Amino acid sequence: MSVIPAGVGWTALLTAYGRAQEALEAEPRFADACAADFVAAVAGARPAGGDPLPRLGPARDDGSSVLWESFRFCFTQRTLFYDRHVLRAVAAGCRQVVVLGAGLDCRAFRLGLPADVTVFEVDRAAVLDFKHEVLAKNGRVPTCRRVALAADVTGGLSGPLAAAGLDPAKPVLWVVEGLLMYFTADVADRVLTEVTSLSAPGSLIVSEYFVRSWENEDVGYDALDEQEKAAWHLLVGAFEYGPMDHKPGDWLASHHWTPDEVTTVAEEAREEGRAIPDVFGRPGANDLWLFTGTRVAD
Ligand SMILES: C[S@@+](CC[C@H](N)C(=O)[O-])C[C@H]1O[C@@H](n2cnc3c(N)ncnc32)[C@H](O)[C@@H]1O
Repeated sequence: MSVIPAGVGWTALLTAYGRAQEALEAEPRFADACAADFVAAVAGARPAGGDPLPRLGPARDDGSSVLWESFRFCFTQRTLFYDRHVLRAVAAGCRQVVVLGAGLDCRAFRLGLPADVTVFEVDRAAVLDFKHEVLAKNGRVPTCRRVALAADVTGGLSGPLAAAGLDPAKPVLWVVEGLLMYFTADVADRVLTEVTSLSAPGSLIVSEYFVRSWENEDVGYDALDEQEKAAWHLLVGAFEYGPMDHKPGDWLASHHWTPDEVTTVAEEAREEGRAIPDVFGRPGANDLWLFTGTRVAD
């Protein structure tokens, strides 16, 4: 059985679980065949056709956990937002995509990106090793050029990305999904400053962070079971909330980026006419900003 690193690396597996669930829906809103590979690698077995996914920590494929259904809603809705913007940028001619904190993101495999696009996936070595092992075992082949890059996103990206072949003179699409909330405001600023320095005018960014910090009351903590409580503490305990004191448009503008689309997961779901779980939908609920920006000249 393969091992996914604990802590934040483990959150990458939860995200993949949500994507694997979507693939099992009668009418999936996106396809991610690799996501089920990761779940099976950790659970030790793949469910027979029609069976639910095995339980993994708080992740349950039987609708029994309000907490998990809320996470899943968020993962699914944001995946759609990022997919749309990756496809749009590539259709508009962008040929370099850098995924920071890539985790088990398989856009290089599942979005049909053309062969002349390079996707750089940056994460910690242990996460990328697990990912490589599972993808190779399942014979998954990317449609584009894929470069897995073991590096600390907060520790200086320029050197590793240059060595991996990124051309900063050409536009880049930066995909920063499920990452900024794990950084302090200072670290998030530092990362965006470095991203900016590697971004020719016309480069794009797609990212997210929470509207406010989470409180136990947001998820009806007292009614959670022990596994859910443990998962909640693990997740929320890891959040530093990044640039949360600023609205995305202001944060981008202070780093030489023009905000393009700024929305939230609840807003996206509302526009699609989807049901919104209480955790994100009740009055005063927390939400997740989703935003894109374009690099402007200094
Ligand atoms: C919540 S997961 C999101 C994964 C992926 N972007 C997705 O949405 O499916 C966060 C990922 O960021 C990675 N990560 C967190 N801090 C990092 C750092 N300083 N350098 C590199 N990777 C980091 C973790 O290892 C993990 O895989």
